[in-house]
Amino acid sequence: MISRSFQAPAKINLSLDILRRREDGYHELCMVMQSVSLCDTVRLDLGSPGGIRAESGLRFLPNDKNNLAVAAALAFRQATGGQWRDLLISIQKRIPVCAGTAGGSSDAAAVLRGLRALTDSALSPEALAKIGEAVGSDVPYCVLGGTALAQGRGERLQPLPPLPPCWVVLCKPAFSISTPALFRSWDSCKPRLRPDTKGLIAGLEAGDLVAVARRIFNVFEAVLPPRQRREIESIKTALIREGALGAAMSGSGPTVFGLFDREAEAKQAVQVLRESYAEVFLTRPLADFSPGEV
Ligand code: C5P
Repeated sequence: MISRSFQAPAKINLSLDILRRREDGYHELCMVMQSVSLCDTVRLDLGSPGGIRAESGLRFLPNDKNNLAVAAALAFRQATGGQWRDLLISIQKRIPVCAGTAGGSSDAAAVLRGLRALTDSALSPEALAKIGEAVGSDVPYCVLGGTALAQGRGERLQPLPPLPPCWVVLCKPAFSISTPALFRSWDSCKPRLRPDTKGLIAGLEAGDLVAVARRIFNVFEAVLPPRQRREIESIKTALIREGALGAAMSGSGPTVFGLFDREAEAKQAVQVLRESYAEVFLTRPLADFSPGEV
């Protein structure tokens, strides 16, 4: 049996724009993605008898192929023609679940990177990302990570200059949001306000944190049910009041993040939000994406 552990970082959406609904039911997206330092740990025991399965200690997470991490292992084995049968994937969750921060997709990406290492595969990162496409729309990005423009379903990736060093406060409210339902809401009331993605990318190119923070924007916020929208707004307001340069919901939510240039203010924001929310994290952008072994 070979055993090794790998880091699986969370992501935030600096921007999320929806261009149109496609014939296949998916939506054409344009998003600026950023990895952050909050990580799950994914341990792989290749050769541990019992087939391919996951364990996380969380009763509400599936342990079979309905878990993206197991789906990723199956996709990797099929793509590489692997003859191995047994793999135990042990996931230590720290990233909030169903929260718009790609926890499940990142675990799947860690499985792909891990299996490449464990099986001495010569697959390029791009080939590995391609295998991830069938597992989920965010998985290719999670394989490559860092700062990237994601288009198409989310699988067409272009690296971008890193987000300048800063502190990122994440706050996940207690409610959960169905991603397909949110896309359907967008179908029925396409919001007019859209992110300035070009301006955001220009801000990254100039290394200008303030310019980036001013342009973080997520079109999904406008199609949330009123009560949830009010809660997201109130977290954003709290972050801004504590000194965030900008704040938005990440992905299909409900996690909200704020960007801070001062550590003391970010820590104060964490303290304030912890009075009302159980899941609040102080993180940093991962500039140089090397979420290797632990
Ligand atoms: O690809 P993934 O399984 O993560 O997508 C989950 C759901 O989100 C899809 O079933 C679809 O309803 C929606 N989706 C979409 N357009 C995208 C990505 C996801 O409509 N680009």
